[in-house]
Amino acid sequence: MCGIVCYIGEKSAKQILIEGLKQLEYRGYDSAGIAVHNGDRIEYCKAVGKITELEAKLNGRKMEGHTGIGHTRWATHGEPTEINAHPHMDQEKKLFVIHNGIIENYYNLKKKLEKDGVVFVSDTDTEVLAHMIARYFDGDLNKAVRTVMSEVEGTFGIAVIHQDAPGEIVIARRGSPLVIGVSDNGYFAASDVSAMVRYTKKVVHLKDNELATLTRDGFAISTAQAKRVERDTETVEWSAGDTDLNGFPHFMLKEIFEQPSTIENAIRGRLEPGEGVPKLGGIMPVWEKLKSCRHIVIVACGTSYYAGYVGRYCFEKLTEVDVEIELASEFRYRKFNFPPNTFIIALSQSGETADTLAAIKEARRKGASLLGIVNVVGSSIARETDAGVYNHAGPEIGVASTKIFTSQLTILTLIALLIGRHQTLPLTEGTEAIREIMALPDRVQRILAQANHIQAVAEKYHKYPNWLFIGRKFNYPIAMEGALKLKEVSYIHAEGYAAGEMKHGPIALINPDMPTVAIAPKDDMYDKMVNNIQEIKSRKGPVIAIITEGDERLKKIADDVIEVPPSLDFLYPVLTVIPCQLLAYYCADFLKRDIDKPRNLAKSVTVE
Ligand code: AGP
Ligand code: GLU
Repeated sequence: MCGIVCYIGEKSAKQILIEGLKQLEYRGYDSAGIAVHNGDRIEYCKAVGKITELEAKLNGRKMEGHTGIGHTRWATHGEPTEINAHPHMDQEKKLFVIHNGIIENYYNLKKKLEKDGVVFVSDTDTEVLAHMIARYFDGDLNKAVRTVMSEVEGTFGIAVIHQDAPGEIVIARRGSPLVIGVSDNGYFAASDVSAMVRYTKKVVHLKDNELATLTRDGFAISTAQAKRVERDTETVEWSAGDTDLNGFPHFMLKEIFEQPSTIENAIRGRLEPGEGVPKLGGIMPVWEKLKSCRHIVIVACGTSYYAGYVGRYCFEKLTEVDVEIELASEFRYRKFNFPPNTFIIALSQSGETADTLAAIKEARRKGASLLGIVNVVGSSIARETDAGVYNHAGPEIGVASTKIFTSQLTILTLIALLIGRHQTLPLTEGTEAIREIMALPDRVQRILAQANHIQAVAEKYHKYPNWLFIGRKFNYPIAMEGALKLKEVSYIHAEGYAAGEMKHGPIALINPDMPTVAIAPKDDMYDKMVNNIQEIKSRKGPVIAIITEGDERLKKIADDVIEVPPSLDFLYPVLTVIPCQLLAYYCADFLKRDIDKPRNLAKSVTVE
């Protein structure tokens, strides 16, 4: 979902911008461009397609200058063409702007400008910003941007440079994230820290309706009402290496194999085996309210939603709390009659998903308390919630979420366990749960060790055009997540279903050309899952069963099996999802898909 990177300082801007845009590629885009102030005027270059296309066009062009802006576009208004790529400029080619988001009232603004004689060259909404800021510019670029902010509706993260303001970049945000980077030889601004982490870990997050002027000597943040804002820098945990492949063919595979350590990061310092009570400092600000809470609504999108779905079963198992799970994109339109002291738990890797952000703002309006489980520190959702728990999983670059999913499951279990141990959950169940949670990294490692076998299973079935995933109770959301993983990276059609629903329709689909992944660990749903598998086999449907190690019975019934170590029923999803992730990855690899950047998808969906 588009990207911004800006630099002003001692160094030449051009290469910093290109490298920064490459670090943002994982967000998804269709075209790119940069603009650099060379001291006299602003030079620019734009290209459709990958950053390498832009580099090819830049080849041989000096484009000397220490002030520059760069953009990767994820088109919302206007085809992905060179003319619609950013930066956009005014008619005199003095003002250049790059933009993440959507200007909702661009059409009326455009009509008004055209009536005043402005000639538009692109089909984008963004171009209105270029003409409007240029018309207000009287030497004070910050003021011109501030004025336009008050006239536009919608979402933006923008960066602006002007030929007649050579030593400055003005940035502004409303709904699309922007973060400032502070280094010894210059200042950065970007959509996320990955674009600058190789130069600095000192960052300052801009909040909605704030703008900032960056110069070679520093930066100044102010509100849309021109009120100065003082904000300390934060230090990000990430390092440049986190955004490298480190020998893996794809980020998705790297991140799947990172899961033993990211699960360790999720539990590190948070478990007290003796008392069977986790420690979660991040939720202490609301703990008094949370421990007496009797109603929770978990809201999220996509894979985070499926993590929340597993979480709902965990809360049901470990606590006396009534828990609902809602798609964020649906939640905000529902007429919720929240009981008093309702908590909303928002799950989001990026912390910038527009649907989830809108949902929690709606919940806030209706009096709910907000908890966040987020990976990106300082992100919009993290800032919007009353308290929360960070995943500390490092950047997740692959568009398909993998390591964050198991991290989310782990943290949700810790929250449920913490609440449960302050309600009716006995000490013995608490200590057993903590012991089994501590064993998860090793158990995940044992499944990863079967990667070659899972690759062979994927090779056997990767040409089948339709798959079915089925599971029950804790593993029903894993069936849905497994189907999503396969769909989004391999483009194979797949559906995730509650196994109990098979007889209500889906069993009509069963045929020799449709494999079913049956998630059937030895939990209290096992016998019913065996029945489902036998029903499928009796109709000649191939079955790939995800089973508990040593399950000789299903080894005889299923066509192929993938074994996971034994665990507690509410912890099995952390294990049974791993084979689903690897099946999806290897099918996509055999089909030669663009695994880390699947078509039409973005890593962070910041538009509704
Ligand atoms: C999952 O593999 C997808 N990338 C997508 O469904 C994602 O989970 C969803 O967009 C939510 O993103 P978030 O966790 O950053 O809010
Ligand atoms: N709405 C703008 C366009 O379509 C910006 C899209 C983006 O966020 O990349 O060009």
